[in-house]
Amino acid sequence: MPLGTLDETTSTLIHSPAGPDPEWWRTAVIYQIYPRSFADADGDGIGDLPGITARLHHLAELGVDAIWLSPFYTSPQHDAGYDVADYRQVDPRFGTLADADALLARARELGLRVIVDLVPNHTSDEHEWFQAALAAAPGSAERNRYIFRDGRGESGEEPPTNWESVFGGRAWTRITEPDGTLGQWYLHLFDSHQPDLNWENEEVRAEFDDVLRFWLDRGVDGFRVDVAHGLIKDQEFPDWGGHTTMVGGQDDDSVEAGDRPQAPMWDQPGVHEVYRRWHRVLADYDGDRALVAEAWTDTPEALARYVRPDEMHQAFNFDFLCTRWDASELRASITRGLTTSDEVGAPTTWVMSNHDVVRASSRLGLAETGKGPNGIGAEDTQPDAALGLRRASAAALLMLALPGSAYLYQGEELGLPEHTALPDQLRQDPAFFRTEGAEKGRDGCRVPLPWEADAPGFGFSPTGTTWLPQPEDWASFARDAQMDQPGSTLELYRAALRLRAEWELGAGSLAWVDGLPGAARDSVLAFQNGSVLVLVNLGEQDLRLPEGTEVLLASADLSGSGDGAAVLAPDVTAWVQLPQV
Ligand code: GLC
Repeated sequence: MPLGTLDETTSTLIHSPAGPDPEWWRTAVIYQIYPRSFADADGDGIGDLPGITARLHHLAELGVDAIWLSPFYTSPQHDAGYDVADYRQVDPRFGTLADADALLARARELGLRVIVDLVPNHTSDEHEWFQAALAAAPGSAERNRYIFRDGRGESGEEPPTNWESVFGGRAWTRITEPDGTLGQWYLHLFDSHQPDLNWENEEVRAEFDDVLRFWLDRGVDGFRVDVAHGLIKDQEFPDWGGHTTMVGGQDDDSVEAGDRPQAPMWDQPGVHEVYRRWHRVLADYDGDRALVAEAWTDTPEALARYVRPDEMHQAFNFDFLCTRWDASELRASITRGLTTSDEVGAPTTWVMSNHDVVRASSRLGLAETGKGPNGIGAEDTQPDAALGLRRASAAALLMLALPGSAYLYQGEELGLPEHTALPDQLRQDPAFFRTEGAEKGRDGCRVPLPWEADAPGFGFSPTGTTWLPQPEDWASFARDAQMDQPGSTLELYRAALRLRAEWELGAGSLAWVDGLPGAARDSVLAFQNGSVLVLVNLGEQDLRLPEGTEVLLASADLSGSGDGAAVLAPDVTAWVQLPQV
């Protein structure tokens, strides 16, 4: 059977092409830069903005459309910059405002859009507002910018609710009042250095309108909104039975997603008002500026509410990231992601990695795939590195063939694994400390990038200093070791991005294809996006491709059969060209 004609197969159309000239963010490949670990120009071992600017051409060469910068604002760095002390200033570790302007100008020159991170749920405890709140009296306007409450118990010695911090421990900290007595408690869903803002307060809302304008005026193309589902709290402040993960009740597997009780700190209906307001702020600017939500909702349907036409433009599809390496589960997740966002006219985003999860090439090498643990330590069961990389490459070709927008996390294009043996004394993630080591935390996916195989610190910094140590065997992952090397992960990503653009896959369609000989539905994912047929082998058997099949790209060698026929081995993806009709 000539594969190209798809005789005897059935196809189920799930998603139709985006209209002509869709806004850039509907189809864009967006590369996440984690500034402290991308490239260091001044030699202190911490990456910085000039380091990024100097290396930006590599990302243009890679073929991405935009970059997202994790926070580089003034911050005491208790949560790697997600604790902002001044939203309108660059932290001296990362450079100056002039360096930010130079980065934006260079990106523009290279044709790259720039999204910056906005952290509205909480500030740093060193923010001038929080310092003023500590110095002011209970009930004052200064306290009302945050969430201060009297404690329970006879002398207020018990926290106002039983809520836990996402990073472990309680979500309330008691302060000492200016007169030296023990006083009120403030809420922090994350670290105690990250007090939650009170989004019921108009002054807070007005301030963030202004922060948005500050960066829009400097020319950014959009914002990635941190903890977008957390801004509004249930004003009754009820006790909450579930453990506080980022997703309300998610750890209770005995109850179906969607039927779990709504956590009082997440995904409250009031958050949407905030995003409608921000939508209007962005609409005042030219050039399709965009908002992307980091919202860990319980269901894709709840996520779709963040991207209704008058709210945000994109939301990270974490359901896809958390899905196990399993054909049926992936198919269900992809279908649901596309149909739920289609219902509100938004693009789906595809994401496998970021600075908060174990890197995909390690996660997919664990016995249990899916979201994975919060970090891996030397004493934990180690991932199967070869299997993980093989699957991550196959997953990358799956993801990059899907219609919508895709996010890459720095190092993903190098197939970089998690650092799974960081010594505990070097760890910095507050989650490691607040869980007393029960969770290793996120440092292992934040290790400085290897640029040059033979340079000290693999070329990350001119002095060879790196704020976290790189594993010794990272030379083979270095960019210069992979560049122009056939079969390298970097070349696979470059080819995939080139073909994705050429075949306009981001703006394309998706139809599941069933009935291909040898491709059982529970072991092979098969779909058509325009003239490209994508085959992902998640089973245990080889899949022989019919002779004459025109393979555009594959995540591993297909020449296994020895008789000339192409063979799609387990954990391999191929893009196949269908004849033009
Ligand atoms: C988001 C960030 C994460 C940070 C947390 C608190 O989840 O991605 O890195 O620790 O918010 O700001």
